[in-house]
This record gives sequence, C-alpha cells and structure tokens, in this order.
Amino acid sequence: MEHATVVVSGTKIAEEVSCSRSEVWRLIEQLRSLGVDVAGHQATGYRLRSVPDLLLPEIVRPLLRGTVFDAHLHHFYKIGSTNTTAMTAASEGAPEGSVFLAEEQTAGRGRGSNAWQSPQSTGIYCSVVLRPALSPSEALLLSLAAGIAVRAAIEQVDSRVKPDLKWPNDLLIDGKKICGILTEMNAEVTRVRYIVVGIGINVNQTSFPAELGATSLRLVTGSEWSRVELVAALLKSLDREYRQLLENADARASILRRFTENSSWVQGKDVRIEENGSAFEGTTDGLDARGFLRVRTQGGVQTVLSGTVRPR
Ligand code: BTN
Repeated sequence: MEHATVVVSGTKIAEEVSCSRSEVWRLIEQLRSLGVDVAGHQATGYRLRSVPDLLLPEIVRPLLRGTVFDAHLHHFYKIGSTNTTAMTAASEGAPEGSVFLAEEQTAGRGRGSNAWQSPQSTGIYCSVVLRPALSPSEALLLSLAAGIAVRAAIEQVDSRVKPDLKWPNDLLIDGKKICGILTEMNAEVTRVRYIVVGIGINVNQTSFPAELGATSLRLVTGSEWSRVELVAALLKSLDREYRQLLENADARASILRRFTENSSWVQGKDVRIEENGSAFEGTTDGLDARGFLRVRTQGGVQTVLSGTVRPR
C-alpha cells in the first residue's frame, strides 16, 4: 500500500515480511484471488495496479480519527455474520466502539429469520459494538438514529441520492431496498449491557433476483462507489448520532423528527402490518415517544412493536 503503483521486487517484499520469495508469490496469488489487482511476477517484481477498495483497518482507520470507532477495527475477507461475531466478541468483553467489517458474509442475517445476501466486496457488511448507558426501551431510538446516519452518509458521498427511511430500519430508493439494519442487544431489564448495530448496504452489486425487491447505489447512480469512502462517512455519521443521543437532552426528539421528515412511511401511509403471525391494516400516524410506529385502524390507534410494514 505504501508503494502503490511502483514495482517492488519479490526479494524486497520477502525481506519486509520475513518469508521466502516463493511464499511471497503464494501470498500474491492469494491476494489476486481476493480481487486485489497486482501486476507482475516473481522475476519482474510486483506492482499494485490500483489501491483496492478493501475495507482494511490500515485504510479505514486514518479516516475515523477522533470517533469512537478508530481504535478496534476488525476486518475479515470471509465470515459467517459480522453481527454474530460482534455479539460473541461483546459477550467476551470487546470494548465500546469495536467495529467488525467483512468483504463477504456466508451467513449474513436480517431481521426475523431473513438472510442478508452478502457477496464478495460489493456491499458493506459492518457491525459495531456499543455500550451505552441506556435502558432497553431506548434501544429503538439508537436503531432509528443508525438509519438516519446511513442516510446522511450516502447523501454526503453523492448529494443526488436521498434514500427513504422505512420504519424501523430499512433504507429504500424508488421503493427498493438498499440498506438493512439489524440491531441486537444483551440487557438487564433496566440496563443495556451491550448493543450490536449491524448495517448492510448494497453498494456495487450489478443485479439482484427480482423477488428480493432490492437495488444498489451503483444501479441507482450508474457509477461505481468507493466502499472505503462510504464506510468512513457512515462510521463518522454514526459517531455523531451516538454522541448526541448520549450527551444531548434534545437528541431523542430530534431523532424522531428527522426520521419522520425523511420517511414517506411514518405519516399518512396506507399499510399492512404483519406481527406475530397476524396482520392488520391502517394508516400510519407518526412515531410515539419511544420510536414505535402508530397506525390508525378502524378500531383505534395501534402501536407496532416489532412487525413488518408493507404498503397496502
Ligand atoms: C434487515 O434488513 O433485515 C437487516 C439486514 C442487516 C444486514 C447486516 S450486514 C452486517 C450485519 N451482519 C449480519 O449478519 N447482518 C447485518
């Protein structure tokens, strides 16, 4: 990385990483199989053709200075699920602000029992460990704030793109999903021990099965996105939201207001709610003080606690 686009001899690399030249060749082959564009061979030396868009801590960390996320970055080329790994790490004491990034997930998880398609190096698969002094009932606000943070990060990278927030945790463009958030926690009745916020963003995928109803930032804008730039914008934006929630007495009201302002779903939308095996229909009527969705039905206003919201 320090000598990008310059030819470096196999002997020099072998010295620097303390291995044989043939081991260097084997490692270069392995990098190539992971999508890193390296020209040359053992006899001529090697050249990194372009800086790869990999979410490596060495690349991402300098962009996160001063945030809660700059100290404990973990990167995986392939993993089951960053949320599962982050939850296990948190249970074993991983500090506040630990970040788990993967190039590919083989068992990416969504809300409920859904899977999250996570092909190699095309999306962002990111989970963070937080240890806020909040009660479990306030965790939903943090999760809504994460959606606001993703939206702001996308808009910061390309101001033409303004995703629609769908309660509780989806981001849509033209009605198709570009981001999902899975927030999980371990808590006592009155106190959160830790929360893992897992964020999946469809960035550079070029197609999706129609039944997924999904799209990517590349499909929407017609050009490739830098995942490094986006993940840095995302973690900085999440850091801002998180600090405000913990430090600012007005943050809760601000989250509810901004979520509502940037969502076509929260107010006046005809919806069908599927919750715990049953369903009802109505028109959305804003968020309550804890962030739950209110739906006006013929029998009165109902509060949605965990259901899936569909258009009617
Ligand atoms: C949903 O829309 O149902 C939530 C999807 C959350 C996907 C992300 S990808 C990173 C993290 N690891 C997972 O296994 N899931 C979340």
